[in-house]
Amino acid sequence: MAARLPILVDDNLRYLKSYQVFLDNSSEHQSVKAFINGPLAEILASIGKGKTALRVMGVGSGSGENDLEILRQLHLQHPGAKVDYEVVEPSGDMLQKYKDLVENTPDLDHVTFTWNKMKMSQFENDCKGRNLEKKMDFIHIIQALYYVEDSEATILFFKSLLEKNGKLLILLVSGEGSWAKLWKIYRPQFGKTDIRESTTMGDLRSLLDSRGIPYQKYELPSKMDITSCFTSGDEKGELLLDFLTQVQDFSKNASPDLRAGVLDLLRGPDCSQEVDGRIMFNNNIEALLISP
Ligand SMILES: C[S@@+](CC[C@H](N)C(=O)[O-])C[C@H]1O[C@@H](n2cnc3c(N)ncnc32)[C@H](O)[C@@H]1O
Repeated sequence: MAARLPILVDDNLRYLKSYQVFLDNSSEHQSVKAFINGPLAEILASIGKGKTALRVMGVGSGSGENDLEILRQLHLQHPGAKVDYEVVEPSGDMLQKYKDLVENTPDLDHVTFTWNKMKMSQFENDCKGRNLEKKMDFIHIIQALYYVEDSEATILFFKSLLEKNGKLLILLVSGEGSWAKLWKIYRPQFGKTDIRESTTMGDLRSLLDSRGIPYQKYELPSKMDITSCFTSGDEKGELLLDFLTQVQDFSKNASPDLRAGVLDLLRGPDCSQEVDGRIMFNNNIEALLISP
């Protein structure tokens, strides 16, 4: 059996740094923003119609950029409505960045934030323990469902929190993109951990199909410049490799064969294209919308 490699999310500081390098080198947030202000705008208009107060929840919100974009669009669609906003995020550093962002963003007087510094599984246990019956108009889990043990139970739980006209939005890497190819081939060698059990939207769609849970699906095109991964010892390249594999210090902890195999796949036509001398990885994302 493959040795268990240390998982990136367990090293908070390194996770933060790799995530930032990933954001700096990809069009991830731009793609999500285009989706929020495109197809999602209509959906946000349809939730909580006629209400004067909306209940919204961000799960695994990180430093909040996508959340505030959703809030901005929600305000455009429901100009007079107050918003009660729950944030569930375990990283104290991420939450601090999120709070700083809120402080520096005008026009948020209509929003009341409740900060839950905890994992989504803890939040679920807390709710069940307290018998919390607070129904939500909109819940999103953007690029964070990788970090749960049981994605099915998690989805069913958050779905159960929805109001009659509410929507649950889940964003994950595309089932057909390069992330899926990388993980399909190498996941077992990265070591079996919770994070890699049900990781792509392909896995998730199969799961929902088998349970007969309907959804609307959207494809969000996105690219990532991974050129620095091919310069051995390049700090940013190493951090990006950690993010791609979700392994801490991948180059040091992986065997030379595994590292060589991963770099080969990343550079090849299954994952990337060379554009103007840069290696561009297909970072396509998929969004699913689920009703109660
Ligand atoms: C890839 S980031 C995405 C952040 C944000 N949603 C975005 O798209 O910008 C994943 C986030 O999930 C958080 N996370 C990790 N494990 C989690 C868990 N068990 N429950 C909730 N959030 C978790 C991380 O701290 C991180 O902020």
